[in-house]
Amino acid sequence: MTEPDFSNVETAGCPAGDAGRDMILRMNREHGPLRAWGFAHIPVGRSMLDVGCGAGAALRELAERYPEAVLTGCDISPLAVETATALNEDFVKAGRMRFLQCGVPDLPFGDGAFDTVFSVESLYFWPDQAAGLREIRRVLVPGGWFMTALEMAGGAMNERQLAIVEHLKMRCPTQAELRDLMLEAGFADVSVEFEPEHRWLCAAGRK
Ligand SMILES: C[S@@+](CC[C@H](N)C(=O)[O-])C[C@H]1O[C@@H](n2cnc3c(N)ncnc32)[C@H](O)[C@@H]1O
Repeated sequence: MTEPDFSNVETAGCPAGDAGRDMILRMNREHGPLRAWGFAHIPVGRSMLDVGCGAGAALRELAERYPEAVLTGCDISPLAVETATALNEDFVKAGRMRFLQCGVPDLPFGDGAFDTVFSVESLYFWPDQAAGLREIRRVLVPGGWFMTALEMAGGAMNERQLAIVEHLKMRCPTQAELRDLMLEAGFADVSVEFEPEHRWLCAAGRK
């Protein structure tokens, strides 16, 4: 039997090299509908943080849509930070956007630093999802919203997705597990929705 080809997602947990660059640029283009669905679940604020920002398309969209917004992207991948910074040079130079190499569960921001935090297609790779969510709640202002949107929902994946998850050792929570994680992290007004057509998951909660 031929081995499945994972070359286009091999470094998804920490993009690196030429394949990693191609992947984050593709995700910039292809995750638009997932980002839009995720943002339909929360009110967005003025000071926003994207955890696992990849090449930064989500922040670019927000900067264009909300002229008052001040945006921070963080990612553990040096390539992601470098690429996102280059692609958003105009906003970075204007002082409206910055990208930092760091990740959950250790964010170098003070308590209540952001009024919105979000994360798209990243939570599966976090070393400790519970601690990551607690850390995100810490950096939110009281009343601030967090949203995570995921293309892979535990218990609802196709064969190709299952193979990727096993190969990359991803941890994909089910809808119920994600709700428990959000509640255990202390979020209020938690909703976790499953989108049946694409089998996406989105969790939202308020500090
Ligand atoms: C599949 S990519 C998604 C990138 C982007 N959010 C998008 O939708 O195009 C996952 C990203 O999460 C980042 N990541 C993995 N673990 C992380 C962590 N603990 N903290 C922050 N980012 C992390 C990876 O480096 C990678 O850039």
